[in-house]
Amino acid sequence: MGNCLDSSAAKVDTTQSSHTPSSASRLSSKTSRSSVPSTLTIPSYSGKSNFDSLPTPRTEGEILGSPNVKAFTFSELRNATRNFRPDSLLGEGGFGYVFKGWIDEHTLTAVRPGSGMVVAVKKLKPEGFQGHKEWLTEVNYLGQLHHPNLVKLIGFCLEGENRLLVYEFMPKGSLENHLFRRGPQPLSWAVRMKVAIGAARGLTFLHDAESQVIYRDFKASNILLDAEFNAKLSDFGLAKAGPTGDRTHVSTQVVGTHGYAAPEYVATGRLSAKSDVYSFGVVLLELLSGRRAVDKSKVGLEQSLVDWARPYLGDKRKVFRIMDTKLGGQYPQKGAFMASNIALQCLNNEAKLRPRMSDVLATLEEIEVSKTAAKHFPLNHPAVHSPVCRSPLRKHQSPLRFTPNASPLPSHRQPPRLR
Ligand SMILES: Nc1ncnc2c1ncn2[C@@H]1O[C@H](COP(=O)(O)OP(=O)(O)OP(=O)(O)O)[C@@H](O)[C@H]1O
Ligand SMILES: [Mg+2]
Repeated sequence: MGNCLDSSAAKVDTTQSSHTPSSASRLSSKTSRSSVPSTLTIPSYSGKSNFDSLPTPRTEGEILGSPNVKAFTFSELRNATRNFRPDSLLGEGGFGYVFKGWIDEHTLTAVRPGSGMVVAVKKLKPEGFQGHKEWLTEVNYLGQLHHPNLVKLIGFCLEGENRLLVYEFMPKGSLENHLFRRGPQPLSWAVRMKVAIGAARGLTFLHDAESQVIYRDFKASNILLDAEFNAKLSDFGLAKAGPTGDRTHVSTQVVGTHGYAAPEYVATGRLSAKSDVYSFGVVLLELLSGRRAVDKSKVGLEQSLVDWARPYLGDKRKVFRIMDTKLGGQYPQKGAFMASNIALQCLNNEAKLRPRMSDVLATLEEIEVSKTAAKHFPLNHPAVHSPVCRSPLRKHQSPLRFTPNASPLPSHRQPPRLR
C-alpha cells in the first residue's frame, strides 16, 4: 500500500506568520530536540469510552507506565518489521516512516511475517516535525482514549534516540490516498458518507467527553480506514485539552495544517472545539468534490477548496458544480445538497455560529438513513446524463511523486509548520 502522496496542505504554526488557510505558507520545522519536556500537563482520563476524572497533570513516567500500552524494545520492533525493510513500508508522514509489522496477538512479541497480528509501526525521524512532546502527547491520549473511531495504540518504544509508536493496522490506509491517489477505485457516495459519519463520531466523542479534547489536526491523511471503510482518527500529537469552566477557547501556539485550520485559530491562536468543526467542513468538501484542501497546481481562487466551493454550497441548483466527477453522477441530489449545507455551516468564519460535531453527526446520519432514497437514483445511468456533466470542475489528479533516491516510497511533501 504505497500510502504517501504529495500533499499540498502545509502544517501551520503562525507565531511568525499570519497566513490564512488559503494562502501560501511560510514554514519552519520543529525539531525533536526543541521540545523535550520532563513532564507534561496533559489531562489524565480514566474509563474506557468516557472520561470520569478531571484533568490532572501526568508525568512522562506515568504516561509511559500506563498498563494500556506496551513498552516495546527497539529490537522487538526491528524483528517485527523485518529490520524496517523498505518492502514493509506503508507510508511516510511528517513524523517519520510507517512500517508493516507482525506481532503475536496475546504476547505482543514479534513473530514471523505473515503470522500473528499485523500492526503499523511508526518510526520517528530525528529531523521530523513531531518532537518528543508530541510523541508523548500521542501516547498519553491514545493510551487512554478508546473508541471505535479512534485508531488503537498498541504500544511504543523509547530507546535512546529511537521513538516509535505501534498501532492497529488499518488495511485501507488513509482517506487522503483514496480520494486523491491515482489507481484505487473511486470511493462511492455511500462509502464517502460512511467515512464522514465515522470521522464525525470520532470527533464527537472527543468533544463531548467530560474533559473535552480538541483534536487540532483533522485532515484526510489522518483519517485511516479499516477493511470495511470504517474511519478512525489517528495522530494525536497535536491534541489539546479543551477549555474548562465558562471559557470558550484555549489560547495556544498555532499548529496544524494549512487549508484545514480554522481562520480565527490561525489568526489569533484561540482554539476551541469549533476549530475542529471547521476542519471537518474542509474534509467534507474534499469528500464531496474529490479536490484537495489546498492545490497549488491550480490557479488563483481555485487553489483554496473552501474559497472556490463556497459560492456553490447550500444552493440546490448549484451544488452539482462542486461534486466529484469521479462519482459519475452517482449520488443522491438531496443527500449531496444536505451534505454541502453542513459543510457550509462548518465553514462559517464565525466560530460560534458553526454547529457542534454532535449536530453535524446527527445530520449526516439523517442523510444515511434517507439513503434508501438513493435507491431511486439511477445508479448505472451513463455519466453523460448526469447533472455532473455540466460541472465546470476540472478532473484533477495529483501526480504521485517519488523520492529522489528512487525509494519505493512516494515522497511526502513535508507538512511544514509556521511558527
Ligand atoms: N495504523 C496504520 N495502518 C495502516 N497505515 C497507516 C497507519 N498509520 C499510518 N499509516 C499510513 O502511513 C502514512 C503516513 O502516516 P503519517 O501519519 O505518518 O503521516 P500523514 O498523516 O500522511 O502526514 P502527517 O505527518 O501530516 O500527519 C499514511 O499515509 C497512512 O496511509
Ligand atoms: Mg498522520
